[in-house]
Amino acid sequence: MERIVGQADAKRAVAIALRNRWRRKQLPENFKTEVIPKNILMIGPTGCGKTEIARHLAKLSQAPFIKVEATKFTEVGFHGRDVDQIIRDLLDVSINLTKKRKTELMREEDLPSAPNTATSTLITSSSLQAARSTRASRELQGRLPIRVELQGLTEDDMYRILTEPITNMIRQQVELLSTEGVELVFEDDAVREIARMAALLNKTVENIGARRLHTVVERIVEELSFQAPEMEDGAVITVTKDLVKERVSDMLVESDLSRFIL
Ligand SMILES: Nc1ncnc2c1ncn2[C@@H]1O[C@H](COP(=O)(O)OP(=O)(O)OP(=O)(O)O)[C@@H](O)[C@H]1O
Ligand SMILES: [Mg+2]
Repeated sequence: MERIVGQADAKRAVAIALRNRWRRKQLPENFKTEVIPKNILMIGPTGCGKTEIARHLAKLSQAPFIKVEATKFTEVGFHGRDVDQIIRDLLDVSINLTKKRKTELMREEDLPSAPNTATSTLITSSSLQAARSTRASRELQGRLPIRVELQGLTEDDMYRILTEPITNMIRQQVELLSTEGVELVFEDDAVREIARMAALLNKTVENIGARRLHTVVERIVEELSFQAPEMEDGAVITVTKDLVKERVSDMLVESDLSRFIL
């Protein structure tokens, strides 16, 4: 899980769930069906890695992955039936998905033919945080016995997210431009500035977690990305702290955010 920065509790919970899935498979046939996989509820602010963890786990375990928007259920007011409906929808989609996937990886025994044989389903939600004490939340928790809380991301987390995962955002940009014969170099100072600005924008404007990094990085490379096809082969472009400051302040002025920041 090197691609997910921090969130140790959540990573630990899904690692245990994944291991238990394997353990369950080792059990004798008649015992296996009695051991019901435990579902996990992840609670935390938007953009802090909940979906990313679930997606990555699904990939690791070659399980079908679906994302269900639970908000529409909450908006109309939550009733017990709606929670059942979410679970049924999840199950329906995962059965269909699994049936469709006639790969060797998915053997007969993995087909979620009944709730108690379904592979672990992860439900992640930030909206539940606001609805912590509601009946809906309690009902979901009853069905999702493992509950983990994820933390909001700090400036340091932002820096790590930019640099540590193998396919991190900075590297993605570098690789993309290399296809044009352009070498993009991010100075460390510049990366730190991106992290600082992202954290600052999250604090002052709206906290959208690591999604903020995408918008900031996009803004910084936008012009370079546009010009790249016209650049000389072997051109080297260095992104400095000053360039980051310049691009981000342009962005702030345009979006009328300057009054918050500048
Ligand atoms: N802890 C983290 N480590 C690495 N990348 C992260 C982390 N948190 C978020 N990201 C990145 O930010 C983006 C949004 O994250 P994700 O979709 O997991 O958010 P979420 O917690 O599910 O938010 P929401 O509650 O809005 O669904 C993804 O591109 C993800 O890679
Ligand atoms: Mg999500």
